Amino acid sequence: MSVKDRYAVFGNPVKHSKSPVIHTAFAAQGGQNRHYRAVRVEWGGFADAARGFFAGGGAGLNITVPFKEEAFRFAERLTDRAMRAGAVNTLSRCEDGCIEGDNTDGIGLVRDIVANLGWRVQGRRLLILGAGGAARGVLEPLLRENPRELLIVNRTPERAEQLVHEFSDIAPLAGGGYALLGDRQFDLVVNATSASLAGELPDLPSSLLTEHSCCYDLVYGAEPTPFMRWAALHAAWAVADGLGMLVEQAAQSFYIWRRVRPETQSVIRQLRESMESA
Ligand code: ATR
Repeated sequence: MSVKDRYAVFGNPVKHSKSPVIHTAFAAQGGQNRHYRAVRVEWGGFADAARGFFAGGGAGLNITVPFKEEAFRFAERLTDRAMRAGAVNTLSRCEDGCIEGDNTDGIGLVRDIVANLGWRVQGRRLLILGAGGAARGVLEPLLRENPRELLIVNRTPERAEQLVHEFSDIAPLAGGGYALLGDRQFDLVVNATSASLAGELPDLPSSLLTEHSCCYDLVYGAEPTPFMRWAALHAAWAVADGLGMLVEQAAQSFYIWRRVRPETQSVIRQLRESMESA
């Protein structure tokens, strides 16, 4: 195996990362033997570790919590979407030797919603819950799908207002606190808060969904998240977690590195089965 086939994900913690399994499955589809490993990087040690990885001939890195902002600063060049996201989850060494940072999270979400789940974004009323890093990372690709409207609500209203300010040149959007929801209804609700990780649920009015509404939680797990349970209880038409997004963002990284688009459905299925049987 040549050094140009070396890839890794840097994070902390990283033990439970599914990226090595996903990328190994992608590589196997083309009969490729690539080396992809998970590396736990110490706090404060990201730049040194990344520099060492690329100096040693590594070809590409994925970056997960808590280093995505540091990776953003580390990159020598940024794609437009990484610039917008303010965070990088994919670093690649380009032909000219430059280390480029990209963010594939938003593309991964849109591909899962539109291609895998068959839900529409175009022309729909879209609600985003949360205004942290996860929301920022998915806003641009969602806006480019031309929803009829996009509202961001957040516990701290100023963070939602800030996102509106930063993204309103792409398409019109609005944002503020949960009070903005009133008795309004939405076709697609994306939970981009970290509430599910703590077993919590944002404060949502029971009138929010129609019988045609779709609900997506960026968080995934063996069990439905509190938001997914809430959506099912309020008769959402369809509910999904972020496992498909995880695989699709990895597929986009794979494409950036190898210029080959891997097949994702079988990998999503395989992960779902192993998660449920664990
Ligand atoms: P991430 O990178 O995962 O987005 P973050 O930047 O810390 O992490 O943002 C977490 C988001 O989840 C924020 O929008 C946060 O709301 P605040 O900005 O008001 O803190 C939101 N969040 C976390 N727990 C929440 C809860 N229990 N209810 C509603 N929103 C919650």
